[in-house]
Amino acid sequence: MRSEKHKVLVLPGPVEVRPEILDAQGDWMIGHRSAAFAELFARMQVKLKQAFMTENPVIVQGSSGTGLWEGASRNCIRDGKKVLHLVGGAFSERWADISRVNGKDVDVIAVDWGKAHTPEMVEEALKKATYDAVCMVHNETSTGVTNPVKDIAAVVRKYDDTLVLVDTVSGFLGAELRVDEWGIDLALTSSQKAFALPPGLAFATLSERVLARAAQVTNRGYYFDFIEIHESLKKNNTPSTPPVSLMFAADRQLDDILNGEGVEGRWARHLAMRDVTTAWAAERDMPLFSQAGYQSPTVSTITNSRGFDVDAMAKFMSGKGFSIDKGYGKIKGKTFRIAHMGDLQPSTLEEVLGGLDEFLASLN
Ligand SMILES: Cc1ncc(COP(=O)(O)O)c(C=O)c1O
Repeated sequence: MRSEKHKVLVLPGPVEVRPEILDAQGDWMIGHRSAAFAELFARMQVKLKQAFMTENPVIVQGSSGTGLWEGASRNCIRDGKKVLHLVGGAFSERWADISRVNGKDVDVIAVDWGKAHTPEMVEEALKKATYDAVCMVHNETSTGVTNPVKDIAAVVRKYDDTLVLVDTVSGFLGAELRVDEWGIDLALTSSQKAFALPPGLAFATLSERVLARAAQVTNRGYYFDFIEIHESLKKNNTPSTPPVSLMFAADRQLDDILNGEGVEGRWARHLAMRDVTTAWAAERDMPLFSQAGYQSPTVSTITNSRGFDVDAMAKFMSGKGFSIDKGYGKIKGKTFRIAHMGDLQPSTLEEVLGGLDEFLASLN
């Protein structure tokens, strides 16, 4: 039984999950070494490949996205080699830290928070040094910037030994991403953002180049050893016990997406919601924090130019039935974020913006 108390999540993860998806988790348990599980895993593979637009296998892990950050860094960077991280917000910074704490030799291209990386910056860095991988964040959730992954990946792919590793935790199924066409070796995500599932599952596409690289890395760790995970995947299984209930939910959600609005339709709905939010903010003299031309389809980070108390704003919105964000990291309070991701519909976004208008009016 679900509780009567319900606030609609307008957060950049975890997001609102539809009742049908919550219900899908409630099916009878199956053993993960059973034929029924292998069937579930196999049919999810087909659909995940469609969602990521790839022919590569898609690993499914009981983990949040952070686990696959660590897995990507450990499996894709050899001892004595370097990795280049593109840093421009809280999450890209954290991935670089994870590479460091795993003993990797990290170089960084840092841009001011709110700015995007450009292919030219990456090209310049790749001319100066050799890297095992370039790590970038598709959609920087703290600043609301979507990086030009397609163009950056095209530059990196000119260098044969350099892998293209992409965090699309808050981009996947909300912002355009074409893994194979764009030459992405690894795209990782987690379930609780634009995929609109409960938290607890993480996914990554693995190219043959990633698997070949992992085979050259001696200390890949245990839980996120891509070679082991891939060996199990070939048998439609996982090395350890997976969160089966969450996989039921993911299976149902993939059906609903692929048989419903489709991946491209989903991108279009997110873009439309981004445009409504951007126009709303501009009309109220609250510019977006993110650089024009790179504003995220899934989350808008809005400058708090009126200097209102974000706690009071969140409390007011809670009274309206919405759980809303107050900004993240060093820009918390100076900005706030409106997440328009997942299964959120434009009509609900209008209600959120209407509630915020009432809050702004209450300040006068
Ligand atoms: C862009 C990005 N990458 C990675 C993460 C970490 O993912 P998780 O919370 O699933 O570990 C987040 C979380 O918000 C994120 O926004």
